Amino acid sequence: MTDTTIDFPNIGILGFGTMGAGIAQVFAASGRHVIVLDTDQTRLDAGVASVSAFLDDGIRRAKVTEQDKAEILGRIQATTAVSALYGVDAVVESVSENAEVKKAALIEVAGVVGADTPILTNTSALSVTDLAAQLPNPGRVAGLHFFNPAPLMRTVEVVRALQTAEDLVDRLVGLVDSLGGKDPVIVKDRPGFLVNALLMPYLNDVIGELDDELATAEDIDLAVKLGLGYKTGPLELLDMIGLDVHLHATEAAYAATLDPRYAAPPLLRQMVAAGRLGNKSGDGFRTTATTSDTEKN
Ligand SMILES: NC(=O)c1ccc[n+]([C@@H]2O[C@H](COP(=O)([O-])OP(=O)(O)OC[C@H]3O[C@@H](n4cnc5c(N)ncnc54)[C@H](O)[C@@H]3O)[C@@H](O)[C@H]2O)c1
Repeated sequence: MTDTTIDFPNIGILGFGTMGAGIAQVFAASGRHVIVLDTDQTRLDAGVASVSAFLDDGIRRAKVTEQDKAEILGRIQATTAVSALYGVDAVVESVSENAEVKKAALIEVAGVVGADTPILTNTSALSVTDLAAQLPNPGRVAGLHFFNPAPLMRTVEVVRALQTAEDLVDRLVGLVDSLGGKDPVIVKDRPGFLVNALLMPYLNDVIGELDDELATAEDIDLAVKLGLGYKTGPLELLDMIGLDVHLHATEAAYAATLDPRYAAPPLLRQMVAAGRLGNKSGDGFRTTATTSDTEKN
């Protein structure tokens, strides 16, 4: 059953990829009815399978019951029809990180939902202010930036664009609080917002240190974990994020700020040019073709 006593009982989500699936699960688990839109049935099926597999893992770890799984999946409606978003209380956009794709999708959605319906974007690197400027009534646009994997990561950045109405920021803080186990952080709209603005220069520095042969990749990760108390080493993290994703994000931040801390290190560009993208390609800074072959044996 959908909980109609909560704010934003009906949420529309654009994009059923990695993040859209996690965000859909989070909203559905909070009792909300979720309508997720993607471009074709194959992607919708993949999105549902991804949520299902995540919940199965939760069942194995005794964090979720079979009944929870059935209820969460029962609140998620997957569709390719944008008209299905008519009447939702808010839309969370999580389509591919491409300004033109996002703008086109948001303009289409703005034509379907109510004139005051909040339109929220999960962009990592684009300007929320720029996206808002493309839409009628930009005061109802804000960033709602989840981290990956959305069901597990606690921080959610509530991004205030220049145009965002103050009462929307307050409602979004309440929305994140209502998700259970999530902590909202209000941030300004600038490249990388807060967390990624800190993360990108750190990762770029580490790639430079590796290129300078300051230490091996294994030792850099070990030293950071033991010395700084981080759970994941920076090079392992880069392999998880995807080197192409980090390159794209840090290039966008550099283009927007000309801050040299965001300039992509040469080794990062070379790795991406060579198709060594991290875990997804089976070859990166810590995941090597050799180690992944060994792991398979
Ligand atoms: N992957 C991460 O770690 C991460 C973390 C935080 C934020 N983000 C942001 O989340 C957003 C989505 O990233 P992702 O990793 O889930 O990407 P993804 O490629 O896994 O998924 C994007 C989905 O959007 C769909 N799509 C494209 N155009 C569409 C349209 N017009 N209408 C509906 N669906 C459409 C695609 O078919 C795809 O299924 C991006 O803005 C990204 O920057 C990603």
